[in-house]
Amino acid sequence: MASLQGRDFLKLLDFSAQDINHMLDLAAAFKAMKHRGVPHRLLEGRNIVLLFEKTSTRTRCSFEVAGYDLGMGVTFLDPASSQVSKKESIADSARVLSRFYDGIEYRGFGQAIVEELAEYADCPVWNGLTDEWHPTQMIADMLTLREAFGDDLRGRKLVFMGDARNNVANSLMVVCAKLGLDYTACGPQQNQPEEWLVERCRELARESGSAICVTDSVEEGCAGADVLYTDVWVSMGEPDEVWEQRIGALSPYQVNDAAFALAEPDAIFLHCLPAYHDVKTKVGQDIFERFGLTQMEVTDAVFESPRSRVFDEAENRMHAIKAIMYATLSDAPLPSQV
Ligand code: CP
Repeated sequence: MASLQGRDFLKLLDFSAQDINHMLDLAAAFKAMKHRGVPHRLLEGRNIVLLFEKTSTRTRCSFEVAGYDLGMGVTFLDPASSQVSKKESIADSARVLSRFYDGIEYRGFGQAIVEELAEYADCPVWNGLTDEWHPTQMIADMLTLREAFGDDLRGRKLVFMGDARNNVANSLMVVCAKLGLDYTACGPQQNQPEEWLVERCRELARESGSAICVTDSVEEGCAGADVLYTDVWVSMGEPDEVWEQRIGALSPYQVNDAAFALAEPDAIFLHCLPAYHDVKTKVGQDIFERFGLTQMEVTDAVFESPRSRVFDEAENRMHAIKAIMYATLSDAPLPSQV
C-alpha cells in the first residue's frame, strides 16, 4: 500500500478503499492499545494546531486526547483567540502555522477553505468538518460497523434517514461506495443528495460491487437495513428559521421502532451526535416550546435501546483521529510490542 505520510485528509473521495481500510486497521490497533493501557507516544516532539470556527465536543476532544496520547503538543485556536480569517488570510495563516506545527486541523464552513489551507500549508491538513464533508467521522463510523459486523463490511446495507444531503450523509455515501456497502439516502426530494455526487458514488459502487439508492419511501429505504443512521435536521451554520420547514418535511423520516421493524432483526442505530432525542438541551426545550415535539430525528426509545451504538461510535472518533494523524505524519509500522 502507498504510504499516506504527508497526505492531507480533506474528503474520502481522495482515498482508495485500501487506504481507508489501512486507517481502520490502525484505529482498531490504537483502540486496543488504549484499552490495554499500553503507552503509544509514537509522535513525541511533534506539534499540532486545531482551528475551530464552529463548536465541537467530540472532534475537538478527539484531536486533543489523540494528540496527547501520541506524545504531541496541541494548540487550540477559536475565532476569538487568533487572527485567522478575520485579520489574516487563510493562505497567510497556513504558511505561518506550518512553520510552527507538523499538522493542522480545521473545522469550519466551506470546503474551499480547508482546501486552500491545505494548498498553502507545508504539513498535513485534516478536515474536522466542513459544510460539505465530515471525513474523520466516517473512519469512526466504519470502525463501529466493523465491531458490530466483522471487518468485511461488503454487502451490508446502511440507510441514512432525514436530511440526506448534509455533510455526514454525503460522506457516508462515499465511504459506503468505496468499501462495498449498499447505501440508501432516504428523505424527501428536497433533502436528497446532489445528482453529481450520486453519479460519482454509483461509479465507485460499480467497482466495489455495491449499490447506491435514493428514495423518499421509508418502506423501500429501511427494508433489509443493517444500519439505520440519522443526524440532526438543522445543521451547524443553518439559520433557526428553517426548523419549522424541516420538522414538517423530515418528521416522516424519524428513526423509530416502526423504521426498525422494516430492518434486519440485528440492525443497529448510529448517529454522529449530538442528537435531539429528548428535551434535556436548550435547543430541545426551545423546539418543545415552539412545536410541541419531545424528540426529533430519533426517538428516545431507539436512542437508549441495545440497538444504539452511538457511544461506541463517539469513542471511536478518538481512535479514528489518532489513526488518521498517525498515518499522515508517519509511515513507520506500529511497533510490535505495542
Ligand atoms: N459528531 C461530531 O462531529 O461531534 P462534535 O460536533 O461534537 O465534534
